[in-house]
Amino acid sequence: MVFREKLPLENTVLTFNDVILIPQKTEIDPYEVDVSTYASKSIKINIPLISSPMDTVTESDLAIQLARLGGLGIIHRNLTIEEEVEMVIKVKEAEPFNIHLNYALLDMNCIDVLKLMKEYYISTFPIVDNQGKFIGIVRKEKLISNLNGRVSDVIESCSSICNVVTSVNQILNIMKSTGLDIVVFIDDYGKFKGFTTIWDVMYEKPFQPALDNEGRLIVGAAISPFDINRIKKLEKYVDVLVVDVAHVANVKAINAIKNFEKEISCDLIIGNLGTYETTVEVITEIEKIDGVRVGLGSGSICTTGIITGVAAPTLWAIAQVADALYDYGLSKVPVIADGGIKYPGDAVKAFTVGAWAVMLGNIFASSKESPSPIIRIGNKQYKYYRGMGSKSAKEKRFSIDRYGKKIKNIDEGIEGLVPYKGSLKDIVKDFVSGIQTAMGYIGAKNIPETWIKGKLKLITQYGKLEIEPHSLKLSID
Ligand code: XMP
Repeated sequence: MVFREKLPLENTVLTFNDVILIPQKTEIDPYEVDVSTYASKSIKINIPLISSPMDTVTESDLAIQLARLGGLGIIHRNLTIEEEVEMVIKVKEAEPFNIHLNYALLDMNCIDVLKLMKEYYISTFPIVDNQGKFIGIVRKEKLISNLNGRVSDVIESCSSICNVVTSVNQILNIMKSTGLDIVVFIDDYGKFKGFTTIWDVMYEKPFQPALDNEGRLIVGAAISPFDINRIKKLEKYVDVLVVDVAHVANVKAINAIKNFEKEISCDLIIGNLGTYETTVEVITEIEKIDGVRVGLGSGSICTTGIITGVAAPTLWAIAQVADALYDYGLSKVPVIADGGIKYPGDAVKAFTVGAWAVMLGNIFASSKESPSPIIRIGNKQYKYYRGMGSKSAKEKRFSIDRYGKKIKNIDEGIEGLVPYKGSLKDIVKDFVSGIQTAMGYIGAKNIPETWIKGKLKLITQYGKLEIEPHSLKLSID
């Protein structure tokens, strides 16, 4: 397969913005498109989305939620080793479905409980006493028939409870036997820990959780190839380690990877790679390559390309790297497109030239689950997002060896605000549905078919203006 030939103008470095996907005869509806793929040789994901290991993107909260939706989170390494390990363990210990912490108290008004229940689309709600002990449930129909009364008038005892979660099936069995649409979690002393609903465990396709062999959520962690202590501590817990250097085709980085590659038992994704030639250099030296992270300088917070004049924009780089892997018998190594992905269509353009999945920083930074708090300016809400080579990220000493001061003084990233977009679940669902729609237009039933069927053509500046919304005085957000 020659992916480089699929890009118009073979000798020009093209970006996502330069090309469009060509519609083709199709037999499938978007919801039928299978977006499952591999993040690395042994890690299957149900949606092709991986989060960037950046300190304003992936800590345990986002990794948990993304794995629950079928993707993979990579914990960043701008942390102490202990903190990074702890975040990985937190993901591994999390239930593979949502746990809600809301509850109602015995002396509340029925009407107020109905308001609390509204966001969950359920007919039962847990009641807790003033000491935090779970004491029963109320049913929606009883609350409605007693609108001016209190919870104490309508409370019922409840056996839909669970101490230790073993599997989704266990939760479904409890719901079946009690006929209720929630299961309440309590500790050994009967204290309320949270509840889950039927909607949290009846997954709609393709958003089934991505699990390891023991039924726990999958998670990855970023490493520096020079930090052997971190590697040894993390490899016991994670599903995949991700070498997190801007340009892995560096003799020192290659040698460092060769020193530890035989000692790790989990998968290893290496990166970042950007050209055919450098990929050949790397894959002929390193034996353990379970996945590659591709793209240099396209990220929304990157200044590498501008400052140094050196870049391998993601779309172009994918074709380069995928061809090198193919030519050297490594076509089973998953290729991750990393940086500059703004729209679902960009992901499908990346698949067209050989990508298996995409890595997202900016898009996930805008979610509720990313590490920074919501920032309000006027009536708008934002989240903070910064490059790992930005001044402030580098000031945290643990990022030192990626774009660090020891070897480089120049900052290679910026920081800023991204509009707050709400829950990761909504963001992911929209993004995946966009990918399915794009794949539907080009008649590709799954990602491997996109490698073959996807066709890209150059678009002009005028063309771009035409396919954007236009001829409106004002658009309403
Ligand atoms: P997006 O476009 O999703 O890109 O925001 C995220 C990717 O950008 C890379 N990254 C950087 N690149 N300087 C760079 O040149 C930086 O400071 C920087 N921080 C992150 C990284 O590959 C990430 O996944």
